[in-house]
Amino acid sequence: MPGLHSAADSTAAPFDPFELKDVVGGSIRDPYPMLHELRRQSPVHTGPIDVGEGAEIADPSKPPPVTVFGFDEVVQVLRDNDTYSSAVYADVTEVVMGRTILQMDEPEHRIIRALVASSFRSKMLQRWEEQLVAVVVNELIDSFVESGRSDLVRSVTFNYPVQVIARILGLPRADYPRFQRWAFELTSVAANWERGLAASAALRDYFADVMAERRASPGDDLISDLVRAEVEGERLSDEEIFSFLRLLLPAGVETTYRASGSLLFALLHDRSQFDALYADRSLYPQAFEEVLRWEPPVTVILRRAARDTELAGVKIDQGADIALMIGAANRDERKYSDPDRYDLFREQRQHVGFGFGVHVCLGMHLARMESRVAINTLLDRLGPFTLDPEAEPPHIEGMAFRSPLSLPVVFAAGG
Ligand code: HEM
Repeated sequence: MPGLHSAADSTAAPFDPFELKDVVGGSIRDPYPMLHELRRQSPVHTGPIDVGEGAEIADPSKPPPVTVFGFDEVVQVLRDNDTYSSAVYADVTEVVMGRTILQMDEPEHRIIRALVASSFRSKMLQRWEEQLVAVVVNELIDSFVESGRSDLVRSVTFNYPVQVIARILGLPRADYPRFQRWAFELTSVAANWERGLAASAALRDYFADVMAERRASPGDDLISDLVRAEVEGERLSDEEIFSFLRLLLPAGVETTYRASGSLLFALLHDRSQFDALYADRSLYPQAFEEVLRWEPPVTVILRRAARDTELAGVKIDQGADIALMIGAANRDERKYSDPDRYDLFREQRQHVGFGFGVHVCLGMHLARMESRVAINTLLDRLGPFTLDPEAEPPHIEGMAFRSPLSLPVVFAAGG
């Protein structure tokens, strides 16, 4: 069985992720008035900025950092990946995940991305939808459907993306609890560095064993696929596979759970939109894209200037770190009317919630499919559920990562 000797090993006891209180942190309720204010001052700022969690201390040995708040300016940076490098992520993620596509520039990025992307083709997505995602979501709903009330974050949204990834990787069921624990420990590395590094090492050992098994007897799972992947004579090294698999956890789990929670939050707070979607599920794609605009789970991504340049008339020095505030860009009033309102019927739905350009989210089709299955299954099985009037009203919070931490609902039991 894989991973028996890993450093941060844990038992197969059921794992309650809420036990790791710091994985779900972040206390800012509404950063948007301040983000509007900063964007109105200038869509591009130089120098340290306090967006509510304290300004970074300026490092005098480095060029002044830059923060971008405007939609067009964010797109301009993401489009020009020669001038704006992704190598900045090496400082943030390499020690935890290894060298991943997130931190690579062209041409290396194009080659490795093509190799891993081949496993996310639409045939696979269709199979995952039918055989994996619906099964995971239904099992989670089975555990509370008789009770007539539930906190949908704890019972569904927080849990299903990691279980979907575990199934996509073809992991044995008995390994789910520890895989889930490592996944959340890795994702919350900023809150507890040592625990995150131990989880990263444990996952590497675990995946090494799984890969050896899959080489000996390949299956129809993602790991077997990555081991076999070949594009124009290139193949992935073992280290590249370990790094990619570790990237999938923060990239694919944290984001999807938060997006699903924020969508449910938006619908539960505007009954007419809930009812419209309940009655007509073909509205789902626009309901989901609108939540990624209105409350993107990840509100900031990073780049570094590869040369001296200028953006919206602001000078940027080579080597400057650049924070792209995609949450602020998605509510740019120069692009969207009434930008603070969630409106699934909005005409203009282009957004940067999945990023843009060569690094645009590789898992976006998976995220759309997973959350569609999760929300539709909830609507089908719980009926027209409402917020629990006896529970504390939920709210969205966080800064770099945002979503509701609870969604207490009531419904007719037994669906
Ligand atoms: C609603 C859910 C999701 C959101 C909002 C989201 C958001 C993003 C964003 C903003 C980026 C761009 C980062 C940058 O350019 O610096 C990104 C990249 C990425 N995402 Fe997602 N993501 C989601 C779901 C997923 C899922 C389900 C997976 C895979 C299982 C995934 C895998 C990736 C990968 C591998 C990259 C790096 C792509 C590259 O560097 O070429 N994401 N995501």
